[in-house]
Amino acid sequence: MSNVLDINELTVNFRGLVAVDHVSFAVAAGTVHGLIGPNGAGKTTCFNLISGLIPPTSGSATLAGTRLEGSSWQRTRAGLSRTFQNIRMFQDMTVRENVMTGMHSRLNASLPEILSRLGRFIKEETAAIKRADELIEFVGLAAAANRRAGDLSYGDQRRLEIARAVASEPQVLMLDEPAAGMNPTETQQLVELLLRLKQKGLTLLLVEHDMHFVMSLCDRITVLNFGRKIAEGSPREVRENPAVVEAYLGAKVAERLKGGAA
Ligand SMILES: Nc1ncnc2c1ncn2[C@@H]1O[C@H](COP(=O)(O)OP(=O)(O)OP(=O)(O)O)[C@@H](O)[C@H]1O
Ligand SMILES: [Mg+2]
Repeated sequence: MSNVLDINELTVNFRGLVAVDHVSFAVAAGTVHGLIGPNGAGKTTCFNLISGLIPPTSGSATLAGTRLEGSSWQRTRAGLSRTFQNIRMFQDMTVRENVMTGMHSRLNASLPEILSRLGRFIKEETAAIKRADELIEFVGLAAAANRRAGDLSYGDQRRLEIARAVASEPQVLMLDEPAAGMNPTETQQLVELLLRLKQKGLTLLLVEHDMHFVMSLCDRITVLNFGRKIAEGSPREVRENPAVVEAYLGAKVAERLKGGAA
């Protein structure tokens, strides 16, 4: 199986804190790859480096053989799309409009630019509207297409974010804690949605704390702790890896000592 995303010795140093420390892993095309680890392990920072939100101190990432460079919109254009740990969308726009902003990844768009272009776009591009509606239906939001995004339930906002990310027709979709804050029914629906995306040929890179979710979805998992890769393998290999068990146990104990956990 060929790799669609190659992470090579990626490193970032935040004034002395090496949040991501020479991390390398490869994501095989058409698979779901998990990136897990305790709080503060460097997962989101890793996503920020790959998606071009922050520059690495050293190392690189390659998408389908081409080195990823430039801003995040350039990387989206190259075929890399992502969602965020804290939902980011245009609250006052409708569901359909939000999905259509995802199609505008080819524009380096500030919000006013998006809005001015969107007006023209909606008039002219009925095909694009049809495509947006297909995506909205695909993620199960057909009844909400004209609703204000900010009025959706949390789980629906998460699904909208995925629809918007998929609208740019990525090769690789990166999801940062997509199940966070979801109830069990929403989580199960999300598992099914992500599996349908995989069936369509999309490659997924997934950060998630819900272990049942991770283990049931992922083909392969990379584990980070304190910025370093400590393990990699199948869900079963990772679950049984003593270094992984220790990292999670260590994190729990540290939280108890801080008085964080019950
Ligand atoms: N821009 C930044 N400047 C300085 N330190 C940062 C910055 N971003 C992240 N960090 C630090 O880097 C470390 C890794 O953070 P990161 O958000 O990547 O962790 P994470 O694995 O996503 O954790 P969580 O599971 O809690 O989301 C943390 O110690 C964090 O405080
Ligand atoms: Mg994070």
